[in-house]
Amino acid sequence: MKIVTSATDLADGCAFVPTMGALHQGHASLFKLAREKSDFVVASIFVNPMQFEDQEEASKYPRTPERDIELAKESGVTHLWLPTYEEIYPEGFAKRSASALGDIYEGASRSGHFDGVVTVVARLFQLVRARIAIFGEKDFQQLTLIRKLVHELNSDIEVISAPTIREADGLAMSSRNVRLDETSRERSLVLYRALTAAAHSSDLDSARTSLLLIAGSQEGFSLDYAEIIDERDFSKAIDTTLNKRAIIAGWLNGVRLIDNMEMKLGDVR
Ligand code: PAJ
Repeated sequence: MKIVTSATDLADGCAFVPTMGALHQGHASLFKLAREKSDFVVASIFVNPMQFEDQEEASKYPRTPERDIELAKESGVTHLWLPTYEEIYPEGFAKRSASALGDIYEGASRSGHFDGVVTVVARLFQLVRARIAIFGEKDFQQLTLIRKLVHELNSDIEVISAPTIREADGLAMSSRNVRLDETSRERSLVLYRALTAAAHSSDLDSARTSLLLIAGSQEGFSLDYAEIIDERDFSKAIDTTLNKRAIIAGWLNGVRLIDNMEMKLGDVR
């Protein structure tokens, strides 16, 4: 595995996996999928200040460089790219706007977050010249916005999504999980419990009821949103919506957690 700081040393036509580091098995699954699709796998690690509302959050973002290098190497990454701030944001580089989908749910709670995400991803795409880019379903709203971005850019990059990797008890892996104290770690199962109950409900009404009831009954959990949405545009799902997904976010002792799950409801048309 090569470690490079400049995009000029990357492989053309690669499979690309952008990350912010503090890598875990969720990231590793993306690298492995990338390796199945391509002989060259470029992973980037860049903690993008523009997608944090509060710059202190960006500076507090977990950093584990040695472990990241090991995990990337073991998981099939051929080029680990650690870009400099100057390479990503040359003087005068214009900020992109993430459209209306960037203002709801995650975007409503984190003002400007998705503008920062689409801006950095557009720039990374410009520098990498990838054939494929892989994103996790864990951040489903982000994934949807990236698909829109690729369409807007009229880019040839094929966006592939990868399933959410979970801990044995169901908690979705996240770089933020290291911030959970013991009590919050136990309580964090509320997201998985609420989503599973919703996903296995027989109809939309009971799915919404279970989701809110479980999310609302966990001590210490401060719910931000819980909804069943249409995957295409995040409007509220109705019975005839083809692809429905339950989404949830909230805080446990100051740590923000998000998760989502595909609905198993029968097509009730
Ligand atoms: P980061 O949070 O590091 O995530 C990098 C990629 O890993 C994203 O596509 C994310 O959806 C995926 N991922 C995270 N946890 C996962 C899990 N448990 N299972 C499967 N995939 C998972 O998302 C970002 O970074 C940034 O916003 C970025 C796209 C790099 C732009 O800065």
